[in-house]
Amino acid sequence: MKTIRISLLCLLMTGCTYYENEPVKPPVVEKSDPTTTLEAKHVTTPPNKITSNYWKTADYLPLTVQNQVTGQVQAADGLFNMSGTFGGLTTYNAGKDPRVKMQAAYTTDSLYVLVSWMDTLYDASNSNWIYDGPTDPNKAGSTTGWTSQRADDNFLISFDMGGSNRDVWNWSFALSEPLGYAIDMIDNGSGATNDAGNKTYVRNAVSDNRGGPQYEWDDTEQHISRKPAGSTILDPGFYLLNKKTFSGDIVAGETYYQAECAPCHGPTGNGEGTPAGYETGVKLNLPGQFNRWTRAALDAFAPSGSHEGAVHYPSSETNRANLFARLRGFSGIPGYYLQNPSGSSSDIHAVSNAIIANIPKYNKKYQVLLIRALNTSQSDDIVLNPATTTYSFNFSLRDNDLINRVGSNTQTLTFKP
Ligand code: HEC
Repeated sequence: MKTIRISLLCLLMTGCTYYENEPVKPPVVEKSDPTTTLEAKHVTTPPNKITSNYWKTADYLPLTVQNQVTGQVQAADGLFNMSGTFGGLTTYNAGKDPRVKMQAAYTTDSLYVLVSWMDTLYDASNSNWIYDGPTDPNKAGSTTGWTSQRADDNFLISFDMGGSNRDVWNWSFALSEPLGYAIDMIDNGSGATNDAGNKTYVRNAVSDNRGGPQYEWDDTEQHISRKPAGSTILDPGFYLLNKKTFSGDIVAGETYYQAECAPCHGPTGNGEGTPAGYETGVKLNLPGQFNRWTRAALDAFAPSGSHEGAVHYPSSETNRANLFARLRGFSGIPGYYLQNPSGSSSDIHAVSNAIIANIPKYNKKYQVLLIRALNTSQSDDIVLNPATTTYSFNFSLRDNDLINRVGSNTQTLTFKP
């Protein structure tokens, strides 16, 4: 059938030749092979996109991960539900092998490392502010009032710098990804601390982990320019960049909500109103939900003809502000706000395929590309000299967790000509 069509086409075209019996040459297929160390090859074209051709054929280091830290909860009071990898491998990605692969390349000035792994659900939060939130199956303590909850997906690469120091590169979906960086830290044996300069993230808190948020989104588009990825708009559902002081009396807002909204939307916002059978099924407690609504949008919708509960929406500004605070307390206000990093905290650039708009949809595979100068001239960074050929590093992953992790230690980065 195909032959006939091509022949007909040839008849219609002048100067068209059709070689019926020309032998088909097998195409030269370059493919990537597994290697026993992370091999960085020298390239002249920077492979600075996840889709760069280099990564399609570059060899890769497959990692078999093991439990590194398990059974831990955050020690500080007020932090809950941050231990998604509590049970180690059995809880990481619901027990499925993350199938970690690492690839690398270098130019005359920079190292490029592409990390790919499986984690079927995106987690992009860190210490979100939730009012009257859920309890924690792994940690005792009251979750009434404000608590700080949820964790993100993140990974750590730590290089042996010698002198019992390690250079730690921590990519975090909540705290570094939005701005296009990895968090740069140094561990001198007593725990990792941030490198010098401004970090990408600052805690958004009035006081302690139960004190509530200091800031909320100011309703303006959160436009940033990332290097090398370019222009991006940050989703206010999960990321706080353009901010104003958090307002509204949430205690009064909660009282109003329970009296006027809970009968249809449920006491916890889960859509299960009272009495049973009266429920709407319309949830007001989805992660990020009311961080994306502006007050003006709620004021327009809630008392309108398109809302069955219109008559229940308050008319006074004070009640509206209080109720809005309560609704944001269901969604989880970002626990950190973001800022452009500086100095030695701005050395590791990152590009990824992590797309926040997909939350809470399923994720196929994370791909994160880290880019760092071989020599940053900062005393808190490892100097990578291709002539030295090998460096030792550890790798670990966390799924919805800020403390427990699975990973693989004592791997080798090899510089190839
Ligand atoms: C009589 C039942 C009822 C009451 C009471 C009620 N609602 Fe609703 N609400 C609904 C229904 C039903 C919907 C879905 C849209 C529709 O058909 O009206 C909805 C939708 C919403 C939505 C849109 C949700 C989304 O993400 O699209 C918001 C916001 C909302 N309600 C807020 C409130 C607030 C705030 C109160 C209390 C002041 C309230 N509602 C009281 C029935 C109610």
